[in-house]
Amino acid sequence: MMSTALKIGTAGVPIPAIRRGPRVVRVALAGCGTVGGELVRLLHQGADEIRARHGLRFELVRVLVAHGERPRPGELDRALLTTDVDTFLATDADIVVEAIGGLDPALRIARATLAAGRRLVTANKALVAAHGPELAEMALRHRGRLDFESAVMGGVPVIRALREPLSLTGIRSIRGILNGTTNYILSRLEDGWTFPAALAEAQARGFAEADPSRDLSGEDAADKVRILAWLAFGADPERLEVRRRGLGDRAERLAHAAGALGGVARLVAEAARLPEGVVVSVEPVLVGAASELGRTRDEENAVVIESEWNGRVRLSGPGAGGAPTASALLGDMVRSAVCHRAPADGGTPSIPDRRPHAWAIAVERGQLPEAALRATLDRVDVEVHRIARGKGVSVMRTQPTPWPRIGLAVRALEGQGLAPAVLRVGE
Ligand code: HSE
Repeated sequence: MMSTALKIGTAGVPIPAIRRGPRVVRVALAGCGTVGGELVRLLHQGADEIRARHGLRFELVRVLVAHGERPRPGELDRALLTTDVDTFLATDADIVVEAIGGLDPALRIARATLAAGRRLVTANKALVAAHGPELAEMALRHRGRLDFESAVMGGVPVIRALREPLSLTGIRSIRGILNGTTNYILSRLEDGWTFPAALAEAQARGFAEADPSRDLSGEDAADKVRILAWLAFGADPERLEVRRRGLGDRAERLAHAAGALGGVARLVAEAARLPEGVVVSVEPVLVGAASELGRTRDEENAVVIESEWNGRVRLSGPGAGGAPTASALLGDMVRSAVCHRAPADGGTPSIPDRRPHAWAIAVERGQLPEAALRATLDRVDVEVHRIARGKGVSVMRTQPTPWPRIGLAVRALEGQGLAPAVLRVGE
């Protein structure tokens, strides 16, 4: 009798059914913290689905960590751990996944991986913002691959949207919330929390960077918007001039100022193409509570991409946290990517943003009479439209003014012993 494992060939001859096992892909993972640890768990828990859907079995063959003794996920075989970068790089792996962050030793790992024609998947926004074009070029030259979906907006596929050559053409601007930690903090402040409590909770939930000052200063969002500007406009991310103002130590004042003007504060990143070049900013912006960005709360990220041919495309979702970021890393691991060309001749020029906006400048209430505040701004040619009063703050809403003059106003107020917090007035 014929076995069910056999089929009848065209000549009536039974041929054995080919039982294809999953293709084994050897993975070396650098970093086993919030994101790397979550990836280890996901590879374990998702193994059946990955095999069924993609015919792959990812096999972890080495894991580089900074601290050999720290607790790791139970799914991880501790024999794979190494703290030595050379040992890690000598490992024979098909894919290197980098989730350690920072430039050292991430850049060394990236260069060595791509120079060997291997595939690199990285969640490292600082690395891609500083060296993306160089690494993409290396990947092309050595027939390797570079993927970094998880570096921007965590689990939201914004990189894919911009990398697909036909999906978005004629992009004019990209604007949105690219940092989960600061958005989480601003949301909690709206709920009446204090700043230290909100920051501590953002850290406990695994949203914040190892050094949270990168979140608070806007550096994290600046790295991400540089990457988006590179992909959208061909601008060299490293050479982009970014007007960056974070929450600093004035988050509570910003939130109260926004409340006094009937809106909410958001840390907004923007890259826009003007006829002369690309302008890029990361700064606190006053938006309506019911607006698209105002409704983006907690660690959620949201971005609006305006393009000539495709109108407004909106993407939103979990922007920070181990699980969404690890999920995006895994997506990169199973996806074939189209490598990016490096920007030719330095790419589109970067120019300072001198477009006029309305601004809200908040100072502690009662320190100076309102007439004196108006007079100070008047001296640097900034016209105050109105002054609102909120929880402990006086907020001057200006007429449309280019940023450099607002910078002068800030310095003039600081010269009078005040600590102004500035929101751009947005939607
Ligand atoms: N610290 C980052 C954030 C993590 O808060 O958005 C995700 O990149």
